Amino acid sequence: MDAIVMLKDDHKEVRLLFRAMEKGELDVVPDICAALTTHAHLEEQVFYPAVRAEVEDSDSEILEALEEHHVATRLIEELEGMDPGDEAYQAKATVLMENVLHHVKEEETELFPLVREALGRKRLQEIGAEMAAARDRLFRPVTPLD
Ligand SMILES: [Fe+2]
Ligand SMILES: [Fe+2]
Repeated sequence: MDAIVMLKDDHKEVRLLFRAMEKGELDVVPDICAALTTHAHLEEQVFYPAVRAEVEDSDSEILEALEEHHVATRLIEELEGMDPGDEAYQAKATVLMENVLHHVKEEETELFPLVREALGRKRLQEIGAEMAAARDRLFRPVTPLD
């Protein structure tokens, strides 16, 4: 599958989860954290390095994206270590949402169009296949050593 289509599907899923959270369903926060962790891993390990190497003038976009991931990752770590009953839990989750929605918008309106133009369909399919393989590796059950 096309790498950008895959990443946008992830974005859509996370937007829906944030919408549920905004309606007061705080029990979706761990799902949001898990989905974002996987998504960020695929971007950082596969998509961003390919873009940086192959798309001219993408450095500043990618460096900014990595800093935004860094902030989100920190918030996710803090949320995962927190009791949902903590008075700061919802506030922190809301700041995560604002950070992520801003980041996703920048990817979809600035980075992805640049990448699609530069790499074309065939290369995006290859990167998509690499990301699918990386996702599989993340969720492959650990087999015990005999
Ligand atoms: Fe990202
Ligand atoms: Fe993304």
